[in-house]
Amino acid sequence: MTSGEKPRLVLGIESSCDESAVAVMDSERGLLGHRVFSQIELHRAHGGVVPELASRDHIRRLLPMIEQLLADLGLARGELDAVAYTAGPGLVGALLTGAALGEALAFALGIPALRIHHLEGHLLASELTREPPPYPHVALLVSGGHTLLIEVAARGHYQLLGASRDDAAGEAFDKCAKLLGLSYPGGPQLAALAERGRAGACVLPRPMLHQDNLEFSFAGLKTAVRQAILNEPELGDERRADIARAVQDAIVEVLVGKSKRALELTGLSCLVVSGGVSANAELRSVLATELAAMGASCYFPSLEFCTDNAAMIALTGLLRLTSGEGLCSDLAIVARPRWPLEELNTR
Ligand code: KG4
Ligand code: ZN
Repeated sequence: MTSGEKPRLVLGIESSCDESAVAVMDSERGLLGHRVFSQIELHRAHGGVVPELASRDHIRRLLPMIEQLLADLGLARGELDAVAYTAGPGLVGALLTGAALGEALAFALGIPALRIHHLEGHLLASELTREPPPYPHVALLVSGGHTLLIEVAARGHYQLLGASRDDAAGEAFDKCAKLLGLSYPGGPQLAALAERGRAGACVLPRPMLHQDNLEFSFAGLKTAVRQAILNEPELGDERRADIARAVQDAIVEVLVGKSKRALELTGLSCLVVSGGVSANAELRSVLATELAAMGASCYFPSLEFCTDNAAMIALTGLLRLTSGEGLCSDLAIVARPRWPLEELNTR
């Protein structure tokens, strides 16, 4: 990455929602190791993330996870060159835990703290693979909180093309899954149930698919699913699977249709998909086929880097460190629950 220069080591910390994650990136050798602790069990009983419980658990987990990771890698704290932490967007209390720890560690070690945008982390996650995507490209970022189409001219240069006006794609998966009686977070479970469903046995709307823009709207899907369920006197397993299939097919068709339109409008021929929903097997397969048919290429992160992780945060920090951008030592503990991605362009 920086051949000829002294190798640099960056510790990454992610705590924006319900995953506590840590990672170490080396500028020469790439990702040395990463750990993710998912709080799913903690929140499941409540049907969704409880912010205060999330923050308290991050406080308990993060420091021991860092110590363990460094020990497993045979590294001493003093060997680190920077600490990169997720400064936003996300749950403010959860962000604060990683921010306080990141700033304190950096101060104690006398190294820079790098304040990383969580979505930029997702956007760069595909670079953790052997074959990183080329620039410029169109990015489809589909997570629990965001559905975005972005024109990416180069790292750090992001132009928003379209977004969801209401629910994000992951949120739509989760809410429809809940209506089908699946536990939180329902996205992967709904996808598994959909495998047994029959195509076309239940038909749901494709919100905004045929509108001539790059906007999304997924909130109507859960209403349609609720209606479909209300119309059923008894919801058997087969019918649940058919509805799950219909939900997945509707979301995938809209995401694929809008992504193709974004490629056409920008004249670009490469799509990079990221965020939790990019782990969805159906989305991966339909996008790969349909983009190949139009002569475009498609890149995904490996499955472990689709959902929240600290490897993408450490990588983003390392790129920032090596380019000398965004280095500050003002000791502020920065947590920005809302943070427009395009603000990064002015760096
Ligand atoms: O990126 P992520 O881990 O967290 C946020 O930054 O939001 O995304 C989590 C979202 C959840 O809504 C989850 O249900 C969804 O990604 N998800 C999936 C799959 N795996 C995770 N949705 C559909 N199919 C999957 N296989
Ligand atoms: Zn995320």
